[in-house]
Amino acid sequence: MVCAPSAGAAAFGGWVSAGAGRSAVTLTNGKRLIFGSPVCGGPRRMDPTHRRREKQMNRIAVLGVGRVGSAIARAALAVGYEVNVAASGPAEEIALLAEIVIPGARARDAADAVADADVIVLAIPLHKYRTLDPELFASRIVVDAMNYWEPVDGELAEFRDAALGSSEVVARHLGTARVVKTLNHIGYHDLEENARPTGSQAGSPAGAPARRALAVAGDDRAAVEAAMALIDRLGFDPVDAGPLRNGAALEPGTAIFTGVLTRDAVAEALGSALTV
Ligand SMILES: NC(=O)c1ccc[n+]([C@@H]2O[C@H](COP(=O)([O-])OP(=O)(O)OC[C@H]3O[C@@H](n4cnc5c(N)ncnc54)[C@H](OP(=O)(O)O)[C@@H]3O)[C@@H](O)[C@H]2O)c1
Repeated sequence: MVCAPSAGAAAFGGWVSAGAGRSAVTLTNGKRLIFGSPVCGGPRRMDPTHRRREKQMNRIAVLGVGRVGSAIARAALAVGYEVNVAASGPAEEIALLAEIVIPGARARDAADAVADADVIVLAIPLHKYRTLDPELFASRIVVDAMNYWEPVDGELAEFRDAALGSSEVVARHLGTARVVKTLNHIGYHDLEENARPTGSQAGSPAGAPARRALAVAGDDRAAVEAAMALIDRLGFDPVDAGPLRNGAALEPGTAIFTGVLTRDAVAEALGSALTV
């Protein structure tokens, strides 16, 4: 099957068939991306079903209270989420920091933080991913906001050579967790500055500057929808980027990682990064 090419859907239309309703493209770096038919015709807008589900997704756990973890936690609190935060040690070690830097967040040990969370956000240095206990994440919705950044993570062959992107490596470690890649391609300072959570309809009100968009890649549809609802509620347009392996297109060095893009521009950036 071939998606119909269209201007606004350049990133998602006109691909060669991968069979069974899936389309395949190859990134210029040789990584191969697979998209299922739902993304044909362009990035999807949030629909009312997402919004109804969003109401039920009200508790977030953020692992990592550094630059981006703190910013995600603050941004989530600002739009009404209950937020648990944890670092690598006991809750007491981050209680004061949380009180000052993330007022309203509950400092917890990691196991307690994730226990009742609807969505768990990973915001720890990627080279620490093996310190995460897969049992804590079994069947849970996990947003991977991490990146492989050699100056910080060191040279790690498992990520340097990860043909399908770093989130696939993380997902394999976490077993049954329903991993979604997003929030990795926005700087911690931009999370609050660029957010437009008010009147959070997808797209922008007439006359307003276009909303910034963030891409979302994952294999589990319900998890992707939950992550898209989170992105929307945080104040950004979510763009469905297809399965988790497509997370490679959101990683450092890509146009999506380096750019500040609208929804259509994210789609176009995906398209321009691809060769059929
Ligand atoms: N900085 C950004 O603007 C940005 C934006 C998007 C994505 N990212 C990505 O997000 C990740 C974190 O970046 P960052 O700049 O926020 O790092 P950071 O400032 O160094 O903070 C890392 C945090 O992770 C915690 N941590 C380490 N191991 C942990 C574990 N096993 N469980 C829970 N918490 C743990 C650390 O706590 P301890 O002190 O207890 O170790 C610390 O609070 C990186 O992969 C980065 O590429 C960063």
